[in-house]
Amino acid sequence: MTFVSDTATAPVKTLPDAQTVTEVKHWTDSLFSFRVARPQSLRFRSGEFVMIGLMGDPDPKTGKQKPIMRAYSIASPNWDEELEFYSIKVPDGPLTSRLQHIQPGDEIILRPKPVGTLVHDALLPGKRVWFLATGTGIAPFASLMRDPETYEKFDEVIMMHTCRTVEELTYGKELVDNLINDELIGEMVEGKLKYYATTTREPFERTGRITENLKSGKVFEDLGLAPMNPDTDRAMVCGSLAFNKDVMEVLESYGLNEGANSEPREYVVEKAFVG
Ligand code: A2P
Repeated sequence: MTFVSDTATAPVKTLPDAQTVTEVKHWTDSLFSFRVARPQSLRFRSGEFVMIGLMGDPDPKTGKQKPIMRAYSIASPNWDEELEFYSIKVPDGPLTSRLQHIQPGDEIILRPKPVGTLVHDALLPGKRVWFLATGTGIAPFASLMRDPETYEKFDEVIMMHTCRTVEELTYGKELVDNLINDELIGEMVEGKLKYYATTTREPFERTGRITENLKSGKVFEDLGLAPMNPDTDRAMVCGSLAFNKDVMEVLESYGLNEGANSEPREYVVEKAFVG
């Protein structure tokens, strides 16, 4: 009888909290997504983020290496066996200049402590939920759009995503297309999810900033929806600092107030990862 040891074939964990990369997809010159093995004990609420990173170069004096860690929204839903992340590539960014070169089989560091405010628990019950994102800010909504809880809690889910170019919308567009055809959740999504993607720096079927399309009422007209109302509407926001600030003003002008895990209200905000 031959005895084969499990440990002989198991990947060698060289980093603290190491997880193995299973898939990498490059969407544009500056955007990519990747999937990693999910630590068995990791439970999270869709919309939360974790700290991920890589080991930095050795210090020239001490020879010691320090991890370079950043907050990344988990883009996969909480029922997925793996974890997905969506990232910008910043040429001189301390982490992403290196992270963009990861390949399946490589390891990254993942601290298994999910946190965040873009969670259902931080919103009061409502009829419609607005997911408002610019750029890589779509990541937490990639998780929330694939979570059955979203469709159990709301009659309508409106995903507004704005990027500079059409190419930058591809990750979100493919995700929504796949959702409709998904065996597990496709039926729940049908008729409930409304995807409203716009560009601001090149022509597209729809254009304009989220803030402008909400203020002018164009998005309500285009989708045949009543304007926002604090009795029925909830919102989650994720984008650059400037976007978050401006869109919060618009939401407040419609009578919505900011909530938190400890005090659920009508909308919640998180800054998208940059750098
Ligand atoms: P714009 O092209 O008009 O600046 P960025 O890559 O700079 O983070 O921008 C991503 C998207 O978010 C772009 O379409 C950009 O529009 C839009 N955007 C940037 N800042 C704001 C803001 N303060 N309010 C609304 N949309 C914004």
